[in-house]
Amino acid sequence: MNRTDVCQIALCSTLIVFVVELLLLTLFSGIVFSPTTLTMAGSTLTTARATLTTHISVDKVCDELPTTLVGRIYVNNTVDERLTWQQLEGELSNVPYGGEWRPQNSSAHCLPRHVVAIIVPYMSREPQLLVFLRHIHRFLQRQQIHYCIYVVEQANTTKEFNKGRLMNAGFEEAMRQHHWSCVIFHDVDVLPEDDRNIYHCDNHYVRHMTTAVDRYNYTGGYAAHMGGVAAFTPEQYRKVNGYSNLFWLWGGEDDDMHFRLNHHKMPVKRPLAKFATYTTVRHEHAKKSKDSEKVLRMKKYGDGLKTLRNYMTIVRFEKRPLYHWILVDVGPFTPTIKTANKVTRNVSTDNKSKAKRIQNKSKSMKNNSKPIKNDSKATKKRS
Ligand code: BGC
Repeated sequence: MNRTDVCQIALCSTLIVFVVELLLLTLFSGIVFSPTTLTMAGSTLTTARATLTTHISVDKVCDELPTTLVGRIYVNNTVDERLTWQQLEGELSNVPYGGEWRPQNSSAHCLPRHVVAIIVPYMSREPQLLVFLRHIHRFLQRQQIHYCIYVVEQANTTKEFNKGRLMNAGFEEAMRQHHWSCVIFHDVDVLPEDDRNIYHCDNHYVRHMTTAVDRYNYTGGYAAHMGGVAAFTPEQYRKVNGYSNLFWLWGGEDDDMHFRLNHHKMPVKRPLAKFATYTTVRHEHAKKSKDSEKVLRMKKYGDGLKTLRNYMTIVRFEKRPLYHWILVDVGPFTPTIKTANKVTRNVSTDNKSKAKRIQNKSKSMKNNSKPIKNDSKATKKRS
């Protein structure tokens, strides 16, 4: 029984008690009520009924496609260098401190269908972060979902970005704060163009949401691509042991996620391209690590959420006006391949050749991997 049920039962009982008492008084005391007394009693009943009605309407579940949606919109992909935090906070003054918003507290007065943590791995991209926040808050509010933005920033601002560790740390911290039923990992430089692309998860499959990206001529990139925006239930994310902690610099950890999902026979689907379209914010792209293909072939799926504590520490966790800020020390840059080679040199020849065989076998893995299916069933309902 939820809070609303309890509330409604309490109000109904009050009304019943009130009416019964009135009848008993009339029957046994012979009191004849004056018109004023009866009018007052009537107005008390009306107030009680109004309270009951308000409670019922507040607890109405939000529509799957709320009338606040606007559909496809033009998204400016250039960074506005003049945009300041003060200006943005003024523009988004309806966002509660900490960047967590619920439709119950807005004029929508409805219970959200989706309760979603948005995890944004981040390092030294302030102008893009401003543009992202300006766009995403309005976008998610139109969808009438309960959401919170977590910006997970790497404290060691060297060029060696470790996105996997940031995403794992963001997941752990967000789940500690609230029991989110859906966690969406979101690049700071991709902006959704159509709010009918509802930000939610599916218990039956992981959702790779960037089906049509301007940078890839409005396709999802290659068949096994998992980068950009990906939605997991906490159970799905834990089952694959999160992202790998072993990819340094740019790229690779999302390809590894694709193989983790295949390994666990967990399906991935993409929403229909006509809704799941994205604009990328222009910026200079970071370089891909030469090691990343090699790390990918190592298939270290035991590494991830479960081993996260070996590498990183949370430096700070605080609420900022438009988001929750998690500052993470990802530990010193330790190239995975060098470390792995060192270990291999100390083990027997047998193990060395076994490692080689695994590497060769998985060489063509990327191109031969299964393509991701479209999530047409879920999206058709909305079209
Ligand atoms: C990288 C991925 C990235 C993709 C698309 C690949 O080469 O390994 O991490 O998401 O390119 O940019």
